[in-house]
Amino acid sequence: MNVAVVGTGYVGLVAGACLAETGNRVVCVDIDREKVEALRRGEIPIYEPGLEELVKRNVEAGRLSFTTDLASAVKPARVAFIAVGTPPDEDGSADLQHVLAVARDIGRAMEKETVVVTKSTVPVGTAQRVREAVEAETAVPVHVCSNPEFLKEGAAVDDFMKPDRVVVGVDHPAAEEALRELYAPFLRTGNALMVMDIPSAEITKYAANAMLATRISFMNAIAGLCERTGADVDKVRQGIGSDARIGSAFLFPGAGYGGSCFPKDVKALIRTSRELGAPSAILEAVEAVNEAQKQLLLSRVVRRFGGDLSGRTFAVWGLAFKPNTDDMREAPSRVTIEGLLERGAKVVAHDPEAIHEARRVFGDRIAYSKREYDSLDGADALIIHTEWLPYRRPDFAEMKSRMAQPILFDGRNLYAPAMMAGHGFEYYSIGRPV
Ligand code: UGA
Repeated sequence: MNVAVVGTGYVGLVAGACLAETGNRVVCVDIDREKVEALRRGEIPIYEPGLEELVKRNVEAGRLSFTTDLASAVKPARVAFIAVGTPPDEDGSADLQHVLAVARDIGRAMEKETVVVTKSTVPVGTAQRVREAVEAETAVPVHVCSNPEFLKEGAAVDDFMKPDRVVVGVDHPAAEEALRELYAPFLRTGNALMVMDIPSAEITKYAANAMLATRISFMNAIAGLCERTGADVDKVRQGIGSDARIGSAFLFPGAGYGGSCFPKDVKALIRTSRELGAPSAILEAVEAVNEAQKQLLLSRVVRRFGGDLSGRTFAVWGLAFKPNTDDMREAPSRVTIEGLLERGAKVVAHDPEAIHEARRVFGDRIAYSKREYDSLDGADALIIHTEWLPYRRPDFAEMKSRMAQPILFDGRNLYAPAMMAGHGFEYYSIGRPV
């Protein structure tokens, strides 16, 4: 099948490469000329395991190509995906200007019946607006479809190749038929293609992310309770997670959730609920708990060292919002580091993949080290923000010998408190007895 994918961000690029892998002819479109040139050379702008090889292989096989010319990609396509960004507006709602501009461009380019699919996360009613935008530019029949993406950064290729489910919102059999054909190779293990009406598909995406964010904020609230009662949130997590109705995934407390999805999607759903005259107390609480949680490590540091941190040095391990990505969007590490800098501290950071992103965010306001242990020289404390694998079993003796004082603030509960006491560390984690 001929497929056009507009937007080569992480959703568009993964979808395009995976659809090419199953034999389709996919043309990915982006307005950024430099990015397109780089992609043609096989250079991937993001760190995503497995993506580079996938792109290279499919480009070489002639199934995957990149262009800035949207019309040339859309003309032969039976299905055109819109996978451009929907950054939050100032009021928290999703900014649809790019989605609708692409819809108009598709309308101008189309020469035959085309299925236009929204893959970007868009509020309820967007598919209808996309239809209107396309139809305003052409008399050729268009079928719109909402096909939300459930990829996790760091596991995106795997998630696309082996999805738990594929959700497709349609209002015309032609759209359903095209999407069934396209996704059949990914659903061979019997995982469902769920066909539903368009508004339900649009809400499903937000509801999934909001539900996951709710579990995290809920566990962060429980962690706070554990700290005040001497309970251990790890035990509580296992205790409740073994109930099949609850399940054990996504119950890890931490320094707040970050990334390009949860914060943006929860905010957008809050905004939509307000606009519809039905403000959501639960979503507002999820967001408020998370904002507070992002301050937690900083407030612990301040409680331990006082408000004036000048002359102090802090090592930070992990800058990305989670492991296996270089993405620092809405990363809780940013809140901690900004707070440390405001109070006059010196910060030395390590991250296996996100240092180039960190340089963009902090420039030379902080120092960077290539090896995690080098960041510890003379540090008053270490703050851990991301559970990268190499941090899980470090050499505590080396850490201690390099630090000015063996103090560790752990935002991911990587180590057992008793073990840390044994190693002679003053150790603070989330929701567990000190
Ligand atoms: C999330 C969803 O998990 C995907 O299903 C969805 O497709 C994606 O958003 C999207 O909308 O595009 P992602 O943002 O890549 O994926 O990251 P997650 O692995 O979900 O982690 C999000 C945040 O939650 C991270 O900051 C992580 O540290 C935090 N988290 C996760 C916790 O604090 N505790 C947990 O138990 C799990």
